[in-house]
Parts: sequence; structure tokens; C-alpha cells
Amino acid sequence: MTTIRKDSVSGTSCIEPIGGPVRTPSRILVVDDEAEVANLLVRSLRYAGYQAESETDSMTALERCSCGNFDLTLIDLQMPRLRGDEMLTRLRQQYPDIAVILVTAAVGTDIAVSCLKAGAYDYIVKPFDLYDVTARVAKALERRATEIELRMYQSDLQRKVGLQASRIRSMVLQSMESLTAALEAKDENTREHSARVAHYAIRLAEQLPGTDDDFTYRLRIAALLHDIGKIGIHESILNKGADLEPYEYEEIRRHPVLGETILKPLFPDDPILLSIVRHHHERWDGQGYPDGFVGEHTPVGARILSIVDAFDAMISVRPYRTGMTGEEAMNVIRDGAGTQWDPTLVAIFDRMLKTDDYG
Ligand SMILES: [Fe+2]
Repeated sequence: MTTIRKDSVSGTSCIEPIGGPVRTPSRILVVDDEAEVANLLVRSLRYAGYQAESETDSMTALERCSCGNFDLTLIDLQMPRLRGDEMLTRLRQQYPDIAVILVTAAVGTDIAVSCLKAGAYDYIVKPFDLYDVTARVAKALERRATEIELRMYQSDLQRKVGLQASRIRSMVLQSMESLTAALEAKDENTREHSARVAHYAIRLAEQLPGTDDDFTYRLRIAALLHDIGKIGIHESILNKGADLEPYEYEEIRRHPVLGETILKPLFPDDPILLSIVRHHHERWDGQGYPDGFVGEHTPVGARILSIVDAFDAMISVRPYRTGMTGEEAMNVIRDGAGTQWDPTLVAIFDRMLKTDDYG
């Protein structure tokens, strides 16, 4: 029975069965080198409401599956050219959304188990009962629909989780940028120093093999906040510049550990980020602070930060001195390669700045 309803948009009439729109019947390909058997199955499946077609050549059947025209295939196990089990393997690899039921003349647990292990949804033993075949087809199609739905749900969930994670990261970065800007606002000389350091650090890191988004995210935050520990140091010492008394120098040397302590509650599960802040004043020769780490024992993020922080400090104007040119600052860093700084990273940074004409 059908009813005629008016399309609300176009005003045209369309025929609709009582109980809602027609669902597209599932499309089934029967693959059997015996045409009589294939045709018998096709007739039976069509009678049950499916769109069924037959194919007697297994290689041609595989090609026909590539068009995405079928939801399920019934495949005879014993066929020339491409055997049923070989076709099953190819289909699972290339078109995993097509459900496969194997039809076999042989009765044996081994065959059944190996078919199911290879990814068949079911197996039917010849001679078959047509009602049984239809019931198994329906069951396989139901399972296929559930699997596809689950896969789409998982992929949608992954996409949403990824989107949310990226939003959170972006919010954290914006907050850290605001915090840094607030900390630096009172000092004209260091204003935007951290933002520039973060910029250079990320560019240098991107020259290294294996750098991924996770690392650059951490490095960016660490670079923005590397000197946050200085809020715990008295301003009279910070602004003194040159000629520090030994006790004042010791006081300033506390800032990396203080920074790590301040950031720990904000990033409790991020030891990499915290270690970059803690170790950004280590030296390649082990004469740095706070832990006197030597060479590559210092985390790579901290070794990067150490170079770009020094570079930006040297080219910046201070109350007690003018800023160096980029080339002059790079000369100092080149001289310190292998003693103060990681020589490999210095060479990469040098190359990077050369392309910018030390700008
Ligand atoms: Fe520092």
C-alpha cells in the first residue's frame, strides 16, 4: 500500500509506502562458478527483498566489488582463478565494509574456523536450505550495519576529542601569553622578550627531526614562561644589571627552580615542560645551573631555549647597554658553541638566522 504526499519544498507529489520511506535494499553479489547455483541463490535473495546479482568468475567479481556496489558477498569456496578464501582475504584488505559469507561443499570444523578467522561473517554448507541462507544473510547484514555504525561513532568521537584537546591547548596558550604580557608590561626593556624567545625556539625546534606538535606546544609554553621565577627575585637585584654582588648573583640563579615550582601546580603532569624551564640556564660544559648538567643530559628543549634566550637578550636594548646586531650576537654564540651551548644546535640556529640575514 502506498500514500501520496506533497513535497513541502518543491510542491511535487511523491509516492511513499505506508510506514515511512522505503529503505534501499541491501545489495548482494553471489559468486559461484556454477551458474545454476548462483542463479538459484540470486532468485531466492531477490524474493526476500534484496538486490542480488550473480558472477561466475571470481576475478571479475573482485573488480565489481571495487565499485562499492555491494554490501555483502556470498562466495563459493572452490572456484578456479581466485579461490573463495583468497577472495575473502582480498576483500577484507581492500573493502572491509563488504560482509562476506563463504559457501562450501566441504563439511569440517577446520574450514569453518579458518574462514571465520580470516574475516568471514559466516559460512554455509552445501547443499543449503534457502530459508537458512536468507536468515544468515540478514544476520550478517545486521552485524555489518552495527560494526559500521560503531566505527563511525568511534571516528566521530576521536574527531571530537581531538577538537576539544586543540581548543584547550589554544586556551592554555592564550592564557600563558596574557600572563607573560602582564609580567613584562612593567618593564619596557624586556617587553615581548618571551614572545620573541618562543618564536625563535619553535623555529629552531622545527629544524630538528622528530619534532612534533606535542613538543612544540610544550616548548612554546616553556619559552613564554621560562623566566617566570624572576617574580620571586627582588626588583632591585633584577634591575641592577652589571656588577652584581656574589649573593645577588646567587639570588638570580634561583629563578629557574622558582619557575619550575610556580608552574608545577599548573602543569602537574608535564615533566617535559617543567624540565625545560628548570634547565634553561644549564651549560654544555656542565658549568651552568641549577643542576650542572653536561651535554645532552640537559633536555633538548632547554638547550634550545638557552641559545635563543641568550641571542634575544644580546640584541635587546638594556638601560646599561645598547643591543648588539644579530650578527654580533651570533658571533658570541658561535664562540660559546661546545662550552656554553650545544654545538649542533648552534650550527642549526646559525644556518636558520643566515637565511633571515640575522634579522
Ligand atoms: Fe632565565
